[in-house]
Amino acid sequence: LGADRAAHVRTLIRDVPDYPSPGILFRDITPLLADATALSDVVAGFAAVAAGLGRIDLVAGMEARGFLFGAPLATTLGVGFLPLRKAGKLPPPVERAEYALEYGTAAMELRSGTLPAGARVLLVDDVLATGGTAAAAADLVRRGGGEVAGLAFLLELEALHGRKRLEGHEVTTLLRVG
Ligand code: PRP
Repeated sequence: LGADRAAHVRTLIRDVPDYPSPGILFRDITPLLADATALSDVVAGFAAVAAGLGRIDLVAGMEARGFLFGAPLATTLGVGFLPLRKAGKLPPPVERAEYALEYGTAAMELRSGTLPAGARVLLVDDVLATGGTAAAAADLVRRGGGEVAGLAFLLELEALHGRKRLEGHEVTTLLRVG
């Protein structure tokens, strides 16, 4: 994103203190999604990232907000889309990867057999926070027989050091906050 467009997109991500629980600063992308220019700029920004990653066979998005950017990105790139879903949403057989939440664990699933062997997959999500979700997603793609071409995020929360969980991968973020 150019500086002006990035600034416009940033103004459309609202910071909501103490949501969904005390001490959490929630990043609400709803205004961004409702803005035609910002939405298309973000998808174009992701497409520019993809152009630097070599061959991409599929875009994968993490439920739920990764779907919002991943599916339009896939159509922009002319490839298919792979939803990585929260546990219990896909019929079996599935691959499953567990990851840590602030309290307890969650799991993400990939429908087995949807990923052609050796497919190069670009993973997309809105926010990189602790990196737990993204690390689980990358693990799922590998276990499903694919290759992680890279991971792209709209917003990186640098203070949470999620990038460290993704060492060895190409990680690109369109916007960063401390
Ligand atoms: C948010 C966000 C990322 C993830 C980032 O999703 O959309 O997927 O958290 O956090 P992490 O880097 O600490 O793992 P959330 O789990 O809130 O799900 P949602 O998109 O369904 O609201």
